[in-house]
Amino acid sequence: MPSLDFEGDYGRTYRQSVQNSIPGHDVLHEIARAAIQTTASDAQQVLVVGPGPGDDLPHLLNACTDAALTVLEPSALMLEQCCQTLADHPGSDRCRLLQHTLNEALESELKGARFDLVVCHNVLHLLQSDEQIVMLQQLTQCTADGGALLLSSYSEAEDPESQRQVFNVGRQRLIDRGVPPEKVEAIMESRNTVVFSLDPSRLSAVLEQAGWRSPLQLYQGLFIRLWLCQAEA
Ligand SMILES: C[S@@+](CC[C@H](N)C(=O)[O-])C[C@H]1O[C@@H](n2cnc3c(N)ncnc32)[C@H](O)[C@@H]1O
Repeated sequence: MPSLDFEGDYGRTYRQSVQNSIPGHDVLHEIARAAIQTTASDAQQVLVVGPGPGDDLPHLLNACTDAALTVLEPSALMLEQCCQTLADHPGSDRCRLLQHTLNEALESELKGARFDLVVCHNVLHLLQSDEQIVMLQQLTQCTADGGALLLSSYSEAEDPESQRQVFNVGRQRLIDRGVPPEKVEAIMESRNTVVFSLDPSRLSAVLEQAGWRSPLQLYQGLFIRLWLCQAEA
């Protein structure tokens, strides 16, 4: 099965290509930052899972002024970009960067660790549905009581006709942005081969099982959603 090559061309051009593949990527992160400021700025321990080039890490350090950040990024190239992103930030000594997947970290350095805020943007859709459930369970388990989990993912409309229409708009948007036709088709064909929808009812079911309240959807840009999930105190 193909996967996105974060160590190669895809990783090197991620900052540009993500603007095409994730509609409203900047807006999503802008809203996520505002949610962090209003719900978790007093966090002491923050976990960031899959930050890519780490463009949000300086904002997180600014929003959570007392927090220690633990950053999990399995790609060496992306981790290197995170280091560059953080290089001039005065709070960079509050960051611990680990080259691990979430699963690897929870089996080693982060065994039993719990965080007041967990941030995981656009990672879950790289996994198939059974693996999404495992990762969601792990994300809830490592969030402290009363803590917050900010999640975003590719997430399709539940009824097929709505999804078809959303897809048509998505394709037209790429054409309007001047994306070459072969790239438009590659993005459209990545569905269920490279990226997998996170079904909102799957998210709700995992949260309910963990005794959390229902997720609050803060944003949707076509087939990308952002949720704020909060653990009971
Ligand atoms: C699509 S990028 C998202 C980057 C950034 N969070 C954003 O919203 O633009 C997914 C990132 O997650 C990382 N990743 C993939 N699987 C992961 C896992 N199991 N645990 C942690 N990070 C993972 C990839 O290396 C990549 O940097």
